Amino acid sequence: YPLKKPEEMDWTFAGMGGHWDIGQLQRGLKVYKEVCAACHGLDLVAFRNLSALGYNEEQVKAFAAEYTVQDPNPNADGEMVERPGVGSDYFPSPYPNHEAAAAANNGAAPPDLSLIAKARAVERGFPQFVFDVLPWIQYAEGGPDYVHALLTGYEEEPPEGITVQPGTYYNPHFIAGPALAMPPPLSDDVVTYDDGAPQTIDQYSRDVSAFLMWAAEPHLVERKQTGLVVLIFLIVLASLVYVVKRRVWANTP
Ligand code: HEM
Repeated sequence: YPLKKPEEMDWTFAGMGGHWDIGQLQRGLKVYKEVCAACHGLDLVAFRNLSALGYNEEQVKAFAAEYTVQDPNPNADGEMVERPGVGSDYFPSPYPNHEAAAAANNGAAPPDLSLIAKARAVERGFPQFVFDVLPWIQYAEGGPDYVHALLTGYEEEPPEGITVQPGTYYNPHFIAGPALAMPPPLSDDVVTYDDGAPQTIDQYSRDVSAFLMWAAEPHLVERKQTGLVVLIFLIVLASLVYVVKRRVWANTP
């Protein structure tokens, strides 16, 4: 089947001087919460991590309290109890286990999205060996490219010669086949934005892809900044070493 390469998007967090667009991450969180969370978990993200998206402690507490979570510890009678979420809880999964998730989705369990932006990183422009040596280059950009392409890439009719199994939806971007068990999850205006950003499938997909990049790699931007300082330091150090070497050996016959 013809696999389409994801379009290369212009992410704010891409490249050496990348930064998060906080407004975009907040919109992406809203899309995840209102659409994707019906089927996909986000097991590795705790509510308190959302403080990185510009929310203060009160807002994080209020956000967490909207969820009902199972307390990880049994109560005094040894029973597992449910209670409103607190900052240290993680996003609850929509299904109790893998079997239930698969049963509700035609046999294909929706994967947890915590690391999907890294798991689906794809080659982007450079030869593959560059990614093997410098793996952060690929998931910084290729992963969200893929998620965005998948969400915007559904097509009504598969081309001649491609059959799509019942209960699956044709999408030439899906890496594992011509069709996947996820119905097109987005449509225009399903999520209300309060900052005036367009309420379109394309904008929702960009925002949720950026949010999933943050979920998978929350320290991406900080690491790049540290990397830049390290590179500058190494250049200065190398120059000094060179100058000192010339001095020390200057009078050697
Ligand atoms: C698979 C993202 C909403 C059901 C996936 C994959 C991604 C994804 C990245 C993995 C594709 C791959 O393996 O390469 C999203 C996002 C959503 C969303 C960002 C919200 C905008 C939903 C909803 C449902 C759903 C609402 C349920 C109705 C599934 C299922 C799969 C899947 C069943 C597995 C497909 C298969 O392996 O055939 N989703 N999803 N997703 N999603 Fe979603």
